[in-house]
Amino acid sequence: MTVLLRYNSAVPSEDTLSEISSETRFLHAIEMGLGAWQWGDHVVWQYGNEYGAKEIQEAFEASIKEGVRFVDTAEVYGRGGSERFLGKFIKDTDQPVLVATKFFPYPWRLRSRNLPNALKGSLERIGVEGVDLYQIHWPTPLMSVDTMMDGMIECVKSGMTRTVGVSNFNQTRMLAAYSALARQNIPLASNQVHYSLLNRKVEKDGTLARCKELGVRLIAYSPLEQGLLTGKYDMRNRPSGSRSGSLAGILPKIEPLIKLMTTIGQDHGGKANAQVALNWTICKGTLPIPGAKNVAQAQENAGALGWKLTDDEVAKLDELSDQIMK
Ligand SMILES: NC(=O)c1ccc[n+]([C@@H]2O[C@H](COP(=O)([O-])OP(=O)(O)OC[C@H]3O[C@@H](n4cnc5c(N)ncnc54)[C@H](OP(=O)(O)O)[C@@H]3O)[C@@H](O)[C@H]2O)c1
Repeated sequence: MTVLLRYNSAVPSEDTLSEISSETRFLHAIEMGLGAWQWGDHVVWQYGNEYGAKEIQEAFEASIKEGVRFVDTAEVYGRGGSERFLGKFIKDTDQPVLVATKFFPYPWRLRSRNLPNALKGSLERIGVEGVDLYQIHWPTPLMSVDTMMDGMIECVKSGMTRTVGVSNFNQTRMLAAYSALARQNIPLASNQVHYSLLNRKVEKDGTLARCKELGVRLIAYSPLEQGLLTGKYDMRNRPSGSRSGSLAGILPKIEPLIKLMTTIGQDHGGKANAQVALNWTICKGTLPIPGAKNVAQAQENAGALGWKLTDDEVAKLDELSDQIMK
């Protein structure tokens, strides 16, 4: 099957790409994906109140139409509901979709065989024979990185996943995963971590640079800081649900950054704040996977592609984000 993808000019040049293993090269060519945590999640995202199955299917279809074909889900999202939705949406489209899902390290999962068993469950829910990327959702003190990677190696060898990724891994753990897989000649494809203009930890602590050095794709989650970087929330209009608490500390500080993003967006012919925020993550060489609850959000987010912030604009955004986060 030929998969049409938007190619990412911010990441490796032809020379660098030739050093990235052929199995994981497709990830470096993807500019942006679609996050599917919102699909069926009530606690954080209020699925069923403000939006439902119709809206998320429309968001999925709009993304595919715009060339955003990489979907990130997890077995825990909506307690399996997100994977089931993805399976239905894949069946309903004639377009190719790249699927990433995740293993959750529940405390009763202590052995490497838990990984292929969990992946079988994900494949059944999605209704596919294999996924493109299988990720460890979080590290856990209850299972060593070596044991997790033994399970991942089995997932690759059985053909249930094309590539292996980790998520929320610091550099030390990421290097341990990289080495454990390398012993079997399997590349570590990705590390999915929190990264946005309001959370640059992985840039500051060297994780992003290390990813680039090793050819590991850094997948940026919450690239819109869960909606804050769209500029629609402020002290009078706070996000609903659990976000009203978790984002309360940062909300009073973001106004100058939103103003700068709006000015920069205007200089690019009226780009929205969300598009500026996502474009910034792409300029940094990462793969953002914004969540979208409806077609309008999905279309707007896809409009982050096809243009580029200047180096000077990236530097200005960096400077202001540094001031806000200090
Ligand atoms: N590996 C991990 O541990 C981990 C953790 C978190 C997320 N993730 C992944 O990353 C994906 C994205 O992260 P996220 O969902 O936390 O946050 P996000 O992408 O930063 O924000 C998504 C939310 O922002 C709002 N939004 C999105 N586009 C918008 C637009 N154009 N205009 C206005 N509002 C817009 C929507 O919520 P409202 O309309 O309600 O504001 C949407 O649900 C998730 O879906 C998931 O796949 C992974």
